[in-house]
Amino acid sequence: MTPLPTLPAANDPARVAEQYRTDRHLHTRIQTHRLYGVGRELEDQVDDLLALTGTEALLDVGSGPGHFPGRLHAAGHRGRLVGADLSDGMVQTAQGTYPEVEFVQAGADALPFEGETFEVLTARHMLYHVPSVPAALAEFRRVLRPGGRFLAVTNAARYMPELWEVVEAAARLEPALGPLAGTRGSVAAAFSETNGEAWVREAFGHAQLSFSDQSLIFSGPQPVLDYLASHHGWLTLNEDEQASGRVALKTVLEGRFRHGPWMVSKRTAFLVAGG
Ligand SMILES: C[S@@+](CC[C@H](N)C(=O)[O-])C[C@H]1O[C@@H](n2cnc3c(N)ncnc32)[C@H](O)[C@@H]1O
Repeated sequence: MTPLPTLPAANDPARVAEQYRTDRHLHTRIQTHRLYGVGRELEDQVDDLLALTGTEALLDVGSGPGHFPGRLHAAGHRGRLVGADLSDGMVQTAQGTYPEVEFVQAGADALPFEGETFEVLTARHMLYHVPSVPAALAEFRRVLRPGGRFLAVTNAARYMPELWEVVEAAARLEPALGPLAGTRGSVAAAFSETNGEAWVREAFGHAQLSFSDQSLIFSGPQPVLDYLASHHGWLTLNEDEQASGRVALKTVLEGRFRHGPWMVSKRTAFLVAGG
């Protein structure tokens, strides 16, 4: 029997560095959510959970292209706003787009700040990429002031299940799609609400879990294929594997679009601590 390929975990440092060297792949995914997402805006829920007064010193770890602190600045936030990201390319893009916000290149477990510097710390869609979540959370606590607040935003265990069922069905037709099909499991194993709640509680003494349910509605397969092609598990495939993988994905997707638009559900988890 042919052994299954060893798949890098979602928090494998080489995989993370390659995926986020620039914002190209993340940009594709952000655009997919913007163009095809329906339901209550995620940002509204973030704002409700944080209830910022506008004067807090806030650090966004894994800030990527910087949209979150950039949005806060545009909305009139007057407190210090800092974004930290492991990828130098991301930091450069963020700094170019949002010159009024401070961006630093740093890993979540080694933040270049004195203890008790920030009143709010956010980690949005990034803890599943961190090699040691407990080490990162301990560092977050260190830089937060007493009474400071922490918010993690992450994919819930039920994040786009209909999409990943398509990939799994396609991988049964074309086994080369195995690395892509492994994405869902590797992200959930690294950090989701099912293991994350206990980690946050251990680090902060308590954790408040809530969810947001949204959907994406697609009217044809191309944006779905583009979205999937931005994932690390696709980028590891050679040209022939990508060509045959595309055929298999299209075959399965044709069935989903037979009766019109196709809906994919999306559950996001929020973990709040401190305060
Ligand atoms: C999925 S993106 C999320 C970006 C942004 N927070 C958002 O929600 O759009 C993950 C980001 O985390 C960064 N990252 C990954 N591992 C990291 C680490 N150990 N420390 C700091 N940033 C990290 C990546 O470079 C990437 O920019």
